[in-house]
Amino acid sequence: MSLPDQPQTAAVPTAPKGPQIILTGDRPTGPLHLGHFVGSLRNRVEYQHQFKQFIMLADSQALTDNMDDTNKVHRNVVEVALDYLAVGIDPAKSTILIQSQIPELAELTFYYLNMVTVARLERNPTVKTEIALRGFERDIPAGFLTYPASQAADISAFKATLVPVGEDQIPMIEQTNEIVRRFNRIADKEILVECKALVPDLGRLPGIDGKAKMSKSLGNTINLGASAAEITAAVKKVYTDPLHLRVEDPGHLEGNVAFIYLDAFDPEKDKLEEMKAHYVRGGLGDSIVKKRLELVLQEMLAPIRARREELEKDKGYIMQLLKEGTMQAREVAAQTADEVKAALGLRYF
Ligand code: TRP
Repeated sequence: MSLPDQPQTAAVPTAPKGPQIILTGDRPTGPLHLGHFVGSLRNRVEYQHQFKQFIMLADSQALTDNMDDTNKVHRNVVEVALDYLAVGIDPAKSTILIQSQIPELAELTFYYLNMVTVARLERNPTVKTEIALRGFERDIPAGFLTYPASQAADISAFKATLVPVGEDQIPMIEQTNEIVRRFNRIADKEILVECKALVPDLGRLPGIDGKAKMSKSLGNTINLGASAAEITAAVKKVYTDPLHLRVEDPGHLEGNVAFIYLDAFDPEKDKLEEMKAHYVRGGLGDSIVKKRLELVLQEMLAPIRARREELEKDKGYIMQLLKEGTMQAREVAAQTADEVKAALGLRYF
């Protein structure tokens, strides 16, 4: 099964036509899962045919709340890169880069920090939620509080016009545009470019336990590199309809994770609609639904796992790809940093 033929039910947000530059990224803190696949990866596979696309392994940003485990971030740079390549992100079409290896991004961050107030950073809803989630309370690392400035640097360094992100990242885009406008006013020139968030319409894929979000920290994921046995075990745990006690009982589809996943991944839509009708009518057991789900997921993930395993054998090749992508990206970021510094009076020779 070739990946571009994957079912596309969780609509790819349509990007505006015309020349656009995409910048998107992930914090490399763990392997990617089906939630990433639906929410971003398969969209990137589409976009790379239409636009210039930069994909950032945001290792520096990951350190803002992982200083106690720098090794985890280091390891996951390669893991996430493997996930990218295994789902069909093509390094000949997309530029994959490692954030920390582009010092100009840190440099831009340093200047942008003067174009944003501490109060504004404290008000950023994403940062606020994340601080609460991590229990930082009064001990917020300064780098964490200020990471919106770093993200503004990531985006603006590439003069990105489109930033595909989850809904939770919209405040980051707003804050980026504030910094961009502020800088352009100071420079009295349109050096930096405002960007637009591209948010998938269909929202998030729930976790196998029925929680709204599939997430590593909730332990409710199915990873893209999951083994056949892991997939089987996960499908067994998939949350269905707690009121559907006997096969003959009518079942409910709302919040039923088995059907939500089938909607997202089952390529045979007609058969799926029949199954749903049967389930709602009564007479269709969860075990049949789960059998179908298991088959669909096994078939979808087998080629991804195979490619991942193949690529994993040659880490040198992966590092070479990342190095080339990073070098290409650095040229672009360095050009922007040069323009920014000149506009701030920081060009001397
Ligand atoms: N903050 C993003 C996340 O947690 C990752 C990220 C870093 C990013 N830099 C970016 C996303 C720039 C989009 C654009 O997922």
